[in-house]
Amino acid sequence: MTHPTRTGATRTGTTLTADLAVEALDRARATTTKLTDAADAELTVQHSTLMSPLVWDLAHIGQQEELWLLQHDSPDRTPVFHATIACLYDAAEHPRATRTRLPLLDPAQSRRAIADVRHRVLDSLARLGPEESAFAAGMVAQHEHQHDETMFATHNLRSGDPLLAAAPTPPGRLVPADAVLVPAGEFLLGVDPAEEPWALDNESPQHRVHVPAFRIGRVPVTNGEWAQFVEAGGYDDPRLWTSAGWAHRQADDVSAPMGWAADGAGGWTQRRFATEQALDPARPVQHVDFHEASAYARWAGARLPTEVEWEKACAWDPALGRRRRWPWGDGPATPERANLGGGALGPAQVGAYPDGASAYGVEQTMGDVWEWTSSAFAPWPGFSPMLYDTYSAPYFDGTYRVLRGGSWASDPVSVRPSFRNWDFPVRRQIFTGLRLAWSA
Ligand SMILES: [Fe+2]
Repeated sequence: MTHPTRTGATRTGTTLTADLAVEALDRARATTTKLTDAADAELTVQHSTLMSPLVWDLAHIGQQEELWLLQHDSPDRTPVFHATIACLYDAAEHPRATRTRLPLLDPAQSRRAIADVRHRVLDSLARLGPEESAFAAGMVAQHEHQHDETMFATHNLRSGDPLLAAAPTPPGRLVPADAVLVPAGEFLLGVDPAEEPWALDNESPQHRVHVPAFRIGRVPVTNGEWAQFVEAGGYDDPRLWTSAGWAHRQADDVSAPMGWAADGAGGWTQRRFATEQALDPARPVQHVDFHEASAYARWAGARLPTEVEWEKACAWDPALGRRRRWPWGDGPATPERANLGGGALGPAQVGAYPDGASAYGVEQTMGDVWEWTSSAFAPWPGFSPMLYDTYSAPYFDGTYRVLRGGSWASDPVSVRPSFRNWDFPVRRQIFTGLRLAWSA
């Protein structure tokens, strides 16, 4: 067995067995199957130049699984994805907009290939000890879940008959429209892989940082609040925007969140998942980019939180002087605690998850919408890459902004309080929103 693991990591803090990896892989595959259970033409067409054809994601999932879980073990075996096919699924090599022009596997071939890889992987996991296999298997399960979220974003942009149905979310409740004070003090930023075995490289090393006092929104910014910003002329006031943000707003004629349209009766609709949906003012706004989020925050007399502030408000337990595994404590993510897993097809109303509050009383940090922070993506001091060594490091150039907390489309194995997502400041086809912060 030759999987490299991160140097010196002993995985003792949390029970981690190959069984957990198999469970995570199985759940990912069920979601993948649901997202690709459609006519071939739906899978091979490009629904948006921002996205791959669904059949590319489908086969890429299996190609990466073979690369990370089978190739290292037995390089001599006959591969499922031969080199001439595997290279078609190299994300760095082929921009999304060009992928329909590649000689990709068709949907039936893709399904057979990923099933073949999975069969061999399960056989391999059954033979290996958990310490040897679990990190790589967990990384691959997270990778499939991440592509499932990408495929949700593709479905969101397609037109035609709706293919996915939304499951209900718990009703919201009236929450104080206030901000939560997080007093000045130290906390432990990031995680120790011994305690959080599936954390990816950029979430470590854990280290102590002092955070000045700040206030942070108890819940994310809602559609209703955002509508006031639009109606107050926020998109037309350059004083609210950075120069880069204003240039982008002008060049792309950004005048409301993606898909918003006035309904003619003083309200708004949003086009999502091939339907025109009335906007619920009580749900978090989604499909806003970093520039819009920053302008909104300035209009509201606030700012975006730094990712360090966000993580402290989410995970730190000041009474016990330690991190919680989740904002609510160490118990698992459940439908009563967070809107995760993709079934809802959108965020729940604010106040829907009182049981998911952090020690400071901040709600809905996990799931619902990815939250823009003011931070550029950069390594924590002492960073070292994991076996997938180009996962994070090529993106530490200051171009990308960090998003936190996952969205309704994220799976509980692919997000954590320490999980760091990053993207271009203009990105908004993913499920992005924001939460305000203030220096105290
Ligand atoms: Fe990928």
